[in-house]
Amino acid sequence: ASIKEVLLHEVQPLERPPAAKVTVVGVGQVGMACAYSILQQGLIGELALVDCVEDKLKGELMDLQHGLAFTRPATIKASTDYAVTAGSHICVITAGCRQREGETRLSLVQRNVEIFSDIVPKLVKYSPHTLLLVVSNPVDVLTYVTWKLSGLPAERVIGSGTNLDSARFRFLLGEQLNLAPSNCHGWIVGEHGDSSVAVWSGVNVAGVTLSTLGPAAIEGELKWEEQIHRKVIESAYDIIKLKGYTSWAIGLSVMHIVQGALHNRRHVYALSTNCRGIHGIDADVFLSLPCVLGSHGITHVVKQNLNEVEVLQLQKSAKQLHEIQQSLKL
Ligand code: NAI
Ligand code: 2OP
Repeated sequence: ASIKEVLLHEVQPLERPPAAKVTVVGVGQVGMACAYSILQQGLIGELALVDCVEDKLKGELMDLQHGLAFTRPATIKASTDYAVTAGSHICVITAGCRQREGETRLSLVQRNVEIFSDIVPKLVKYSPHTLLLVVSNPVDVLTYVTWKLSGLPAERVIGSGTNLDSARFRFLLGEQLNLAPSNCHGWIVGEHGDSSVAVWSGVNVAGVTLSTLGPAAIEGELKWEEQIHRKVIESAYDIIKLKGYTSWAIGLSVMHIVQGALHNRRHVYALSTNCRGIHGIDADVFLSLPCVLGSHGITHVVKQNLNEVEVLQLQKSAKQLHEIQQSLKL
C-alpha cells in the first residue's frame, strides 16, 4: 500500500470544483512577476507555465511549488509542450525579447512577431475559449498580431497596454499631491510607450478636475502636467538603465486584469484593444482606451470626453502604429 493509503481513510472520492486556470508563456522576469502575483492573490486553481528553455522552466516551477504551503491551494505545471496549457481561461503572453538600455519598444517588433507566430496558434489549439492577454513589447502591435494569428474575436485578445502607464501616472500624481494613488483618477491612453496620451482634461480628485485649477509649475520651467507625463514615459527607460528590466509593477497590473476577468468584476482598465470607429480612428489598430472587462473579454469601451489636442495625439499614435502593423510580415 502507498503511504497515502496507509495514512488516509477515503470517505468519498475527491471531486474538484472547476478551478480557474491561467497560463503564463515566458518565465522571464515579467512572466514570473505575473505568475507570482497571480498565485499570491489566490486567484486560480491551476497555473501552467511554458517557455522554450527547459531548465529555467523546471527551476521556476520548483521554486513556486515550494511556496504553495503559504498560498491558497493550487496546482502548478510547467512544460515546453503546449498541451500543459489545455483548458486555460486566460493565457498571458510575456515571451520574447526585451529592450536593452536606451532601446525603444518598437525596435523589438519583428523579432517578437516571429516568436508569437510560434506561440499563438498553439495556445488557441489547446484553449479555444481562452482570453489572450498580451504583455510582450511592443504590446499594442503584438496584440494586433495576436488577434490576426489567433483568429479569435477582438474582444478576447487584449493587450496589457497603458494599464501600467496609468498606474505610474497615478503614483506620480499621488506623490505630488500626497494622496493615495487610487484616489488620483487619471488615465494614460494610446500607445504603451513613447507616444502615449495623458488625458489631463479628465484628471480629478474627488470630482475636482485638476485642469480647471489653472496652470501651475513645479521645479522651475515646465508645467507640472508636462513633467509628470514625461516621467511616466521615461519610467521604463530609467528602470531598465538601473536594474535591466521592469517586472514588479507589470506583474501586479497583470494580476489585477486577470482578477477582473476571472471574477467578472466589470472593472475599467486601460487596455489595448481594436480602436476602429472610436475617436475618429478608421483602421484596425490596437491602442489603449478605458475598457470594461468581463469574463468573456472586453464588453465596452468608455467614450472619454477627450479635448481636441488629446484626440489629435491619439490619432497620431494610431497612425504611427498602423504604419508598423502594415509593414509586418505575418
Ligand atoms: P526575459 O528575457 O526575462 O524573458 C523572456 C522569456 O521568454 C525567456 O524566459 C525566454 O526563454 C522566453 N522565450 C523566448 N522565446 C520564446 C518562445 N518562442 N517560446 C516560449 N518562450 C520564449 O524578458 P522579460 O523581462 O520577462 O520581458 C518579456 C517581455 O515583456 C519583453 O518583450 C518586455 O519588453 C515586455 N514587457 C512588457 C511590459 C508591458 O507593460 N507591456 C512591461 C515589462 C516588460
Ligand atoms: C515597461 O513600461 C518596458 O514596457 C515596459 O515597463
